[in-house]
Amino acid sequence: MTRKLIIDTDTASDDAVAIIMALRSPLVSVEAITVVAGNCLLPQAVSNALYTAELCESSVPVFSGAAKPLTRDLVVAEWFHGHDGLGDHGYKPSHRTAESEPAVDAIIRLAKANPGIELVTLGPLTNIAQALDRDPSIAHDISRCVVMGGNPVCEGNVTPAAEFNIYVDPEAARKVFHSGLNIEMVGWQLCRGEAIFNPQDIAALRALNTPLADFSIDSNSTATNALKIQTGEIGISLPDPTAMGILLHPELCLASGSHYVEIETLSDITRGMTVVDLLNVTRDERNAHIWAQARKAHICWKLDVPKWKQLVIDSMR
Ligand code: BDR
Ligand code: CA
Repeated sequence: MTRKLIIDTDTASDDAVAIIMALRSPLVSVEAITVVAGNCLLPQAVSNALYTAELCESSVPVFSGAAKPLTRDLVVAEWFHGHDGLGDHGYKPSHRTAESEPAVDAIIRLAKANPGIELVTLGPLTNIAQALDRDPSIAHDISRCVVMGGNPVCEGNVTPAAEFNIYVDPEAARKVFHSGLNIEMVGWQLCRGEAIFNPQDIAALRALNTPLADFSIDSNSTATNALKIQTGEIGISLPDPTAMGILLHPELCLASGSHYVEIETLSDITRGMTVVDLLNVTRDERNAHIWAQARKAHICWKLDVPKWKQLVIDSMR
């Protein structure tokens, strides 16, 4: 039976690749793309989601969500993804527009109507926190919530302590991690090193000679330069497609563990840090008063990189 899926995204270049993977997969039916501000301002992210859906010849409904984090000012990542989030190639906006129903309403409606539905989050967790605030019961209707976010090995891409999606709205992330959702956390470190789409992988993708393959490479042109500046790595880093790969094929996660996780919201230095309890000391009576609200999440520690890369390439045929 086809699995039902909601994609929550701050659609920029790697989000777009992940959306294509889902829209092209026979395993899932994407019921909604809900959009949140993050990589770019909300209207741009909505426009990018619509453009990507159109490229896949999909009429999936796109819903506009939160224009800013729960309590903080928005931080965008245009330096990484380009001013339009897609490498500034002048892609023509889709002629479709977003649905009139707000994203939060759509998430709640779909979760209640489709118990067991899956969710993948590719941006700050603002929409999901707002939906859970409004109806906490959806935490039990959603069977899996794969979160691209965090850095369980403490290697941040915004600060030394924090990964972008959690950094932007740590209060929202905290609510979501406390909610009882069945969270699978795909940290930023999984898309680095051998998981970078290197020049050979890019050549294999380009050789497909399809509009989707070209778009996946070209829309990540600014991100490729930014990655080189940020990490010295040559190629395209694809955090959101990593999460989407694990959502579609859980067996791509070769090693995982279930751990209590907390999100730092108070300190400036460690804002948005995902603190993972590896030694299970959270429930120790000396810690209990501070860690009482923490819940466990499944942390993916190891990605089957060759199979995941093949999945990305096959999705663009
Ligand atoms: C995450 O932040 C964004 O730049 C990417 O789209 C991804 O969701 C990586 O830290
Ligand atoms: Ca994203």
